[in-house]
Amino acid sequence: MAKRKVLKFPDERLRKISKPVIEFDDELFELLDDMRETMYANDGMGLAAPQVGVLIRAVVMDINGNFFELINPKITFQEGEQIDEEGCLSVGNFNDKVKRPMKVTVEAQDRLGYKYQITGEKYFARCVCHEIDHLDGKLFIDKSENGKEFIKKCGGK
Ligand code: NI
Repeated sequence: MAKRKVLKFPDERLRKISKPVIEFDDELFELLDDMRETMYANDGMGLAAPQVGVLIRAVVMDINGNFFELINPKITFQEGEQIDEEGCLSVGNFNDKVKRPMKVTVEAQDRLGYKYQITGEKYFARCVCHEIDHLDGKLFIDKSENGKEFIKKCGGK
């Protein structure tokens, strides 16, 4: 395993739409292992592959000590609403309030390609939404209260 460099906004790769994972092979396993190590080394709750410059739909998360790998994740159900502070390893020293669903159901594949479904609330729901946004080139600063100012300040888009 190896730590990888986390891209920082306004790196343009963070704005790309990532491609679905088709091959569940050694290259994917190595990437996921590296993402896990990189996330823990940076005290993150989640990390999406594009944040390490690999534009595929793969995510790792740790919610209250439970580790998740989500490949090709899709939200199939959501309900309720929560507003709380969010941050991002690709955004650095800026946290801001973002509205998210309170509860989500997500369909994904594991590293071997097997499909599974999981429902979670609060931090889980917030983190899944945040990470799936990364796969679509979106960042929490696009949605947060003071995000536009921050984007302008960084000279980003
Ligand atoms: Ni993030």
